[in-house]
Amino acid sequence: MDIASILFMLINEVAVFRASAPGSLMIMGEYAVLYGHMALCASINRYLHVTISPRKDSIITIDSSLGQLKTDIHSLNVQAPFEFVLACLKNADLKTGCDIHIHSEFSHRQGLGSSAAVTVATLAALGAWKNKTISNDALLKEAIHIIRLVQKKGSGADAAASIYGGIVCYQRDTVLEKLSSLPNVTVIFSGEKTKTAQAINRLDPALAHTTLFSEMGALAEKAKKAITQADWSTLGNYFIQAQEKLSALNVSTPTIDHLLTILAHEPAILGAKISGAGLGDCVIALGETQDTRLNILPIQLGLGGLKIATTLSQKKIIDQLIPHKNPKQKTATQFAPSNIALCKYWGKRDEIINLPMNSSLSISLADKGATVTISVTDKEDVYSINGDTLSRNSDHYTRLNDYFNLFRSKNAPAFSVTLDLNIPLAAGLASSACIYAAIAKSLNVLFDWQLTSKTLSIIARLGSGSASRSIETGFVAWHRGALPNGLDSVAEKLALAWPSLRVGLTQLQTAQKKISSRKGMQRTVETSPLYRAWPEQAEADFHLIKEAIQQKNMVLLGETAERNALMMHATMLGAQPPLLYSTPETLSVMQRIWQARTDGVVVYFTQDAGPNLKLLFLEEETEKVKNYFPDLTIIKPFDESLNNE
Ligand code: PMV
Repeated sequence: MDIASILFMLINEVAVFRASAPGSLMIMGEYAVLYGHMALCASINRYLHVTISPRKDSIITIDSSLGQLKTDIHSLNVQAPFEFVLACLKNADLKTGCDIHIHSEFSHRQGLGSSAAVTVATLAALGAWKNKTISNDALLKEAIHIIRLVQKKGSGADAAASIYGGIVCYQRDTVLEKLSSLPNVTVIFSGEKTKTAQAINRLDPALAHTTLFSEMGALAEKAKKAITQADWSTLGNYFIQAQEKLSALNVSTPTIDHLLTILAHEPAILGAKISGAGLGDCVIALGETQDTRLNILPIQLGLGGLKIATTLSQKKIIDQLIPHKNPKQKTATQFAPSNIALCKYWGKRDEIINLPMNSSLSISLADKGATVTISVTDKEDVYSINGDTLSRNSDHYTRLNDYFNLFRSKNAPAFSVTLDLNIPLAAGLASSACIYAAIAKSLNVLFDWQLTSKTLSIIARLGSGSASRSIETGFVAWHRGALPNGLDSVAEKLALAWPSLRVGLTQLQTAQKKISSRKGMQRTVETSPLYRAWPEQAEADFHLIKEAIQQKNMVLLGETAERNALMMHATMLGAQPPLLYSTPETLSVMQRIWQARTDGVVVYFTQDAGPNLKLLFLEEETEKVKNYFPDLTIIKPFDESLNNE
C-alpha cells in the first residue's frame, strides 16, 4: 500500500465529514425554468448540515429530526423520509457503512429547498469521505440526477442555489451567473406545503402552448438586471407581474391571495409573489415588514453556498489527551456522583464532541451516583447495569460500545464493565452523567494515565455532555469554551462549599424517559423559535448563580435556578413536535412548592429532561419542607462523612 492510501485510511479512522448546504427560495422564473427559460433562485441564511462518520462494518444509520433508520449497504432501499439521502448512498457504491447525522436550521415543511439541500450536502460529504475533489458544476449534475431519480421532475435550480450561494441565474441545468447583490426580503409561510412534483403534475398541459412561460422567463431576465443595479422598486414591479403569471397557472390558494392582499397594503413592501411551486409554500415579499398578522419566517437571503469540512472525530481528541492505551492493571473501580444543573446545559454547538451552546453550573449529589468496574478481557465486551447484562442490540449497549471503541488497543481489545447505580436510570436524574464520569475515572486508574480532573472532564464529556460535571464533587462549572476542538470546554470544581445546602429528590417516576436529553435538545435547537433566547439567558444565569453561591444567597440561587429550568422547558414547548417532560404530578409538585413559598418556606425547584423535580433549600428549612413533601430523599452535597472528596 502506498503512503497516500495509508494516510487516507488513517484519516478515515479518525475523521468525520461534514457538509453544510443552505436552503433556497425561488426569486423568479419558477415553472418557466422547466420549459428551458431562465430562473433566479437564491440561497437563504439557514443551513442544513450532514455529518458522515465512517464505520468499519456495513451498517448505515441515519439520524435526524425526521426520524432514525438503521440499514445495511447491501440492502439499501430508497424510501421516505430519507429518500434523497438513500438515493445518494445507493449511487455512491459504498464499501463500508457509516453513521449519518442530519441537522437542519430550517423546517422541511415550508418549501425552503430542504430536499435539494440534503441532496447537495450528502453528496458533498460522501465526496469528502471518498477524498474526491469535485467541482461545483459536477456536483450540481450529480444532485440533479438524484433529484430527478427520486421525484422524477424538478428544475435543479434549488440545488444550484444551495451549491453556489447568493442569487443564481439558472437555465437548462446550468448556472449562467451568480449575482452578489441581495435585496432585503420578508418570507411568509402560507401554512401549507404541496410536494413540488405533485404541483408540477397538476399543471394544465395546454399551458405549454401559450406564451405564458416565455413571458415569465423574460421577466426573470429583466429582474436579473434590476438586481444587478440594486434597483429594488423596479424589481418590486416585476414581483407583482410575476405573481399575475403564477395566478394564471392556477398555483395560488385563497390563503396565499389573502397574504398578498395584506402585503399589497404594506407601505414598506415593494412587491410580493409566491416563491416556488405554489399551492402552499412561502410568499416572498420585497422589503421588510413586522406585520403581526403574518407568519414571518426568521430568514433572509444569504450569500453563502455549500461548505465542506473534515472535522476531528472523538477518537482523534482522545488520542491527543491520553498518553497510551496499555492497561497497567486488570481491573479498576471508581465512583462518580450524579449532578444536578442549577444552570442547565441545553443545546450543542457540536453534536459529535458534545460542545455546549452555553456554560452550565451544577451541584454533585454526594454519594448518589454510579460505581463502575472495568476489567480488560480478550473475549467480547460485556456490559451490565445493576446486575442485568445488556443485550447487544439495546441502545445502551451501542452507546457504551461506541464509547469504549475510543480506548481499545491490542493490549485492551475488549472490556467487561459493571455499572451500579443508586439512582433511577434515565428518569431525569442525570444517570448518563455519573455513568460516563465513573467510566472516565475508572479508565484513568486502569491505564494509570494520571490525568487531571479537567482532562477527565473532556473525556467524560465525549460520552455525555453533563458527565463533564460529574468528575468532581460540590459545585462544578462547565465552561462553554470557544475552540472548535473543545479542548477549552472543560468542567472545574468551584472552591466554594455551602454545607447547609440541601437537594431534595422527588420520586414521581422511575420509568425510563421516551426521548433522551440528546434528542430533546437537538429537536429544540432545530425547531423551537424560543431557543434563540436561550444561550444568552443561560450565560447570564450562569454568572448570577455563581454570584449567589459566593454570597450564600439562597433566594438569588433558588430564583435563578428555578427560572433557568422553567425557561429551558419553555424552549421545548416551542419545538416541533412539542416536547413535554412534565406530567400532571410534576405540575402538582410545582404548585405545592409555590404554595410552600407563599406560606414562607424558602424552597425552590429545578427540573431536567424528566418529570422529577429536585428541590433546593437550606438545612434550617428541612422540617418545614418535609411537611409538604414527606417522601423526599434529602441529599447533603457537602456531607464530609460521605468521604467523596
Ligand atoms: O448530558 P446529557 O446529554 O444527558 O444532557 C443533560 C441535559 C440536562 O440534564 C437537561 C441539563 C443539564 O445541564 O444537566
